[in-house]
Formats: sequence, C-alpha cells, structure tokens
Amino acid sequence: MFKGALFDLDGVIADTSNLHFKAWQDHARNYFAAELPPSIEEQTKGVSRSDSLNVILNYLDVAVSDSMFHQLLLEKNEHYKDSLKQLSPKNILPGITTFIAELRQHHVKLALASASLNGPVILEKLALSEAFDAIADPSKVPCGKPAPDIFIAAAKALDLHPSECIGIEDAIAGITAINESGAFSVAVGANPELKTADLPFLTTSELKFETIRTSYSLWQKERFL
Ligand code: BG6
Ligand code: MG
Repeated sequence: MFKGALFDLDGVIADTSNLHFKAWQDHARNYFAAELPPSIEEQTKGVSRSDSLNVILNYLDVAVSDSMFHQLLLEKNEHYKDSLKQLSPKNILPGITTFIAELRQHHVKLALASASLNGPVILEKLALSEAFDAIADPSKVPCGKPAPDIFIAAAKALDLHPSECIGIEDAIAGITAINESGAFSVAVGANPELKTADLPFLTTSELKFETIRTSYSLWQKERFL
C-alpha cells in the first residue's frame, strides 16, 4: 500500500489551469497581437512561469530583452492573481474532496508538488491547507517539470521514498516528472499522451482510492519480479 500522495495543483485539485492560459492569451493579444493555439496551452501546462513564457515566445518567434521578459512574467502573474480573487472551495475539481478524505482515512500523507509559486495561497483559498502535510517549494528545486525534482522533494518532505508514493497530474510534463522520480503516476485528462501514466483517468471524478490501491500493488509486485 502506498504511504504518500504527491499532488499537482492546477488542473488536479483546482480548476485554475484555464486561468493560467487565459492570462497568457491576454498577454499575447495585448503585446504581440497574436492568438495562442490549444497546443501551446498543453505545452505550458505543468511548466514554470518562465518556461511557459519561453514556450510562447518561441511559438511567436519573437525575442525580448531580459527586462521585458521579467516585466511580462510580473504582469502575467498580476493578471493571474486578479483572476484568483474569487477563488473558493467551489473551485475544487469534482471528486477531489472525497478522494483527499479517503486518503487521509487510510493514513496516507499528502504533499503538494506543484510548479506554481502561488500554490500555498491557492490551497488556503480552497480551505485545503490543513489536509496537506507538506508543500514542496518549486523555487528551491534545481529543475522544473518534466524533471523529477519537485516530486522527489515532495516525497522527501513526507520522509518517504518516491516509490512509496503516488503522484497525480494533468500535464504531460508532470507525468514524465512522476515517472522519472520513481513514484507511481496517476493521470487525469483526455490527452492521449497521458496514457504514459501508470494509471490514466479521464477526469478527477474517476479518482477512486480502491482502484488506485489495487493498481499500485500490482505495479509494486511487478517491479520486484
Ligand atoms: C503550473 C501550471 O501548475 O504552475 C503552469 O500548470 C504554470 O501553467 C506553473 O506556469 C507556474 O505557476 P505560477 O503560479 O508560479 O505562475
Ligand atoms: Mg496541472
């Protein structure tokens, strides 16, 4: 049985993923008179703010000065934070409250493994801070997703080895990060590339403790065959 659950935040716990992309889209319109396609939304999911901006600038094929780069990051975050003003427990994605309660009933420890520097504030607004035993700080890990660092740090914060944990993600970069960390990967989302997860689900409402426990046990057995 797994002992820890390492959660992504945007698009797993809260419906905030589209707010990130909306802020980037407004930026692209205002500064570059351009529209960003859905493929760019996918590529900015799970990756840090500055990596997201690099993805967008590459797509637009524009180069900006360092000071402009920082200005764009700052403004995007202000814009994003504005959109979080009304955030409340109503923004928790379907099934997550029950799933977290089930994990806690089974004495599974919970850690946040989000790339977002706004993670602690968002957990507060969702009234979920108490449910989490640790929050891995994305500013303290050498590399962002798809590197495994944040999931390794989150497991360590729980005093566990990644293989004793499940990681839950909606981003392809995030699933790669979990797989690389050695934890059992659980995906939520419809993108076919998420099938690289050990256990893919289409939506958060399908996250069922018993299904995950069974699948994790099989995975553990296979690893030691
Ligand atoms: C991830 C989002 O959770 O956090 C990304 O999926 C975002 O889209 C990243 O870029 C960083 O978030 P923030 O809040 O620090 O800008
Ligand atoms: Mg996410």
